[in-house]
Amino acid sequence: MKKTLLITGGAGFIGSHVVRRFVTRYPDYHIINLDKLTYAGNLENLIDIKDAANYTFAKGDICDAELLQKLFGKHNITGVVHLAAESHVDRSIAHPMEFIRTNIMGTVTLLNAAKSAWANDYSDKRLYHISTDEVYGALGSTGFFTEETRYNPHSPYSASKASSDHLVRAYHDTYGLPTVISNCSNNYGENHFPEKLIPLAINNIKNGKPIPVYGKGENVRDWLYVQDHAAAIDLIFHKGKIGETYNIGGHNEWRNIDLILLLCSLMDKKLGRPQGRSAEQITYVTDRAGHDLRYAIDASKIARELGWKPSVTFEQGLEKTVDWYLANDEWLQHVVSGDYEKYYQQMYDGR
Ligand SMILES: NC(=O)c1ccc[n+]([C@@H]2O[C@H](COP(=O)([O-])OP(=O)(O)OC[C@H]3O[C@@H](n4cnc5c(N)ncnc54)[C@H](O)[C@@H]3O)[C@@H](O)[C@H]2O)c1
Repeated sequence: MKKTLLITGGAGFIGSHVVRRFVTRYPDYHIINLDKLTYAGNLENLIDIKDAANYTFAKGDICDAELLQKLFGKHNITGVVHLAAESHVDRSIAHPMEFIRTNIMGTVTLLNAAKSAWANDYSDKRLYHISTDEVYGALGSTGFFTEETRYNPHSPYSASKASSDHLVRAYHDTYGLPTVISNCSNNYGENHFPEKLIPLAINNIKNGKPIPVYGKGENVRDWLYVQDHAAAIDLIFHKGKIGETYNIGGHNEWRNIDLILLLCSLMDKKLGRPQGRSAEQITYVTDRAGHDLRYAIDASKIARELGWKPSVTFEQGLEKTVDWYLANDEWLQHVVSGDYEKYYQQMYDGR
């Protein structure tokens, strides 16, 4: 095999799409997926490629310096795509320390491991850090985040991601480590953990449960289909310039309430309900503390320099997502019941 890549957090939502894309598109790459399998890691996301000849799963923590040293020592890893993180804002408000540990300490442990394994021979090496638009803070009703927007994170999640971005840039500027960063807007799509807005709403609509909407539902997010994010990651990994940052977004802003109404209408159609029935389940709940009003990405740099743009409209992507959730009820029920956490034991214990 020509290249060995380490992908961290590959059992999570976005990571699983990235792992699948790299394993299937690049048969001459050996893909090592390092994941701690926290509550958010689900190997059932990768069931279709688990036996691929060019794929290896490694259960482990990015904060474990010894494990990283062993992985770099055993395999000739020349590229890293770093997605492992604690990613849920509400959890960061309740339990910030785990975010500091994984997102900041974990990232710097990974940077150290790559730096020491590559020992200043950086030819054909690359460490790609995946980040979020939430580092930029919130926008008013106009304007967009560009790559030059000042960092102004508001939640423990976004502050921990901002720190990790700074550390990645510092390792590039100080040690010359070949790094690249991207900051992406909200993702949606298949295999999204049902604590997040869209899959939670799909599940609750289906089961006749209340659909919780924060405040008055006026917060605006820029939504991107997860497979379009995976395609952008593929492009940046191969063609992005070392030391650069790329914003990735869908040019697709929706107020939460409008998104939920669109989803309700789509679900009414799919479930054969009269139009308007699912929307009756909408329930307004107390707003999240420090809830950023609006995020919107200016993705013109990646379009101009790398030729990337989203492949689907929101309506198309949302319909694909709904169809997937309706066809994969077993996956959803395993997540909701917690059974997915037993899958690792069944598949990997004793190996
Ligand atoms: N979801 C979004 O909308 C979005 C948008 C922009 C950027 N991002 C970023 O993309 C990345 C992936 O996000 P996601 O939504 O797929 O997250 P996720 O929570 O679904 O997945 C995270 C994965 O990381 C693993 N992990 C957590 N801590 C770990 C540790 N200490 N060591 C090894 N593995 C660990 C988990 O087990 C899980 O598989 C994150 O870095 C996130 O900040 C997400």
